Amino acid sequence: MATASTDQKVIVLDFGAQYGQLIARRVRDLHVYSEIMPCDASAEEIMAEHPSAIILSGGPASVYAEDAPKVDPKVFELGLPVLGFCYGQQIMAVTLGGTVGHTEKGEYGHATLTRKGESRLLDGTPAEQQVWMSHRDAVSAVPEGFTVTGTTETCPVASMECASRNLYATQFHPEVRHTPHGQDMLSNFLFKICKLEPNWTMEGIIDSMVADIRAKVGDDRVILALSGGVDSSVVAALMSRAVGKQVTCVFVNHGLLRKNEPEQVEEVFTKQFDVDFVHVHAEERYAKLLDGVTEPEQKRRIIGTQFWKEFFAVAQQLDGVKFLAQGTIYPDIIESGARKTGGKASTIKSHHNLIPFPEGVHFDLIEPLDHFFKDEVRALGTALGLPDHIVYRQPFPGPGLAIRIIGAVTPEKLEILKNADAIVREELDAYNAKLFEETGERNSEHSVWQYFAVLPDIRSVGVMGDERTYARPIILRAVESSDAMTADWAKLPYDVLGKISGRIVAEVPGVNRVAYDITSKPPATIEWE
Ligand code: XMP
Repeated sequence: MATASTDQKVIVLDFGAQYGQLIARRVRDLHVYSEIMPCDASAEEIMAEHPSAIILSGGPASVYAEDAPKVDPKVFELGLPVLGFCYGQQIMAVTLGGTVGHTEKGEYGHATLTRKGESRLLDGTPAEQQVWMSHRDAVSAVPEGFTVTGTTETCPVASMECASRNLYATQFHPEVRHTPHGQDMLSNFLFKICKLEPNWTMEGIIDSMVADIRAKVGDDRVILALSGGVDSSVVAALMSRAVGKQVTCVFVNHGLLRKNEPEQVEEVFTKQFDVDFVHVHAEERYAKLLDGVTEPEQKRRIIGTQFWKEFFAVAQQLDGVKFLAQGTIYPDIIESGARKTGGKASTIKSHHNLIPFPEGVHFDLIEPLDHFFKDEVRALGTALGLPDHIVYRQPFPGPGLAIRIIGAVTPEKLEILKNADAIVREELDAYNAKLFEETGERNSEHSVWQYFAVLPDIRSVGVMGDERTYARPIILRAVESSDAMTADWAKLPYDVLGKISGRIVAEVPGVNRVAYDITSKPPATIEWE
């Protein structure tokens, strides 16, 4: 959804998975709006986005490889400032008549950059400074009109520019934290070279999003599936700010949420926000459907299918609903294959098709977060007044506790797991909060990213007082991760582990043992089912 703050836009052409995202985030950190496009976008497609500048990302390929991604040469003729990093520098060089050499050794990690002569890009940064390198190939001869502005011991063209054509490039990666002056260089590019305004700020963004939503929705009604997760909660808060009671938030309670969670969601969206809140008590229907089901994928299918049934049952009873609001975020769009399908429009379509509209039912979609990264969504949530326990909620799977109970779900097992899980969360929330206080970073190196209890389908012998027990164990799972694709088991201090174990066994009836899962992903997954 376009907003006033997106009038200026920096397009990042992405030459390799993940590189583009990081650059776009760094640009946005400097309060300039940035979007990613696939590297093979034509100059016409790029211009259709009305960009103010273009950045060419790094990438894993070698520019001379047969299937190496190319850039449309017309990109350099548009009169727009262009900045290239790593592969971006190399592709700029070869496209404009320079040469790139293949080195056997390459250069990986910290390097010392020595500046040479004048440089608009490096202006104000030290004559000698640390930069981060990660490459095999490197520019060996710059194109006509370019000057070399920096070198390292092994890289004769560590940075180059042609100020008269507004073209700039570095072999190193200014976008990573290991290049301490990287943001200064990006800032030089955005504000001194491109003369942009830092207008991508939370207040401005919210105001213009609210205006856009009001214009789109008019007097119609909007429905929203609220899970209590960050994304749908932020959409709900935003829609509430924009159109108030015209929004109905449907909260399907499948009975598989964590202890006290349904009550918290209801409290926030009935007391704090002005929306029409429908709490669907589907606990008994889910319990019946899941009775005796042990296979994880079958559990997922049942829970997912029933969710939409419950949701559309409410939706169809409401009059005049035209829109369905969804918490789709930018990485969902990028990662669902924009690059492969060659354009955003087709990707959004395939993404939308995931909603199983019943026969004859249709709503137009509103996805106000579809250009936001996760940390921006959290910042929006905070600015809109959502409490920290929602904004900084850890990831929680849609099928809920059902996939943390190995084997069939029963009311007794659910009760045990909810109580044990509440203790795990209480202790590790406190552990994370202490780290946050000490480091000032919410996701510091040692903070735990996702943590929960698992209930396996076995019993073991124990002794409590003078009595032999034959009861259930709880497995503690706690991982460090940034995106759930890979995860490391958390090296929790023994006293924290000891306290969690002691409390669970003492406070949760039916549990006599706690084990800690010390497997990373891969080879394990984060969840047990
Ligand atoms: P795994 O277990 O695959 O989990 O390592 C990776 C991340 O995804 C979450 N997860 C799910 N989320 N529906 C969801 O919405 C699911 O069926 C599901 N399964 C796993 C998991 O909690 C972790 O953050």
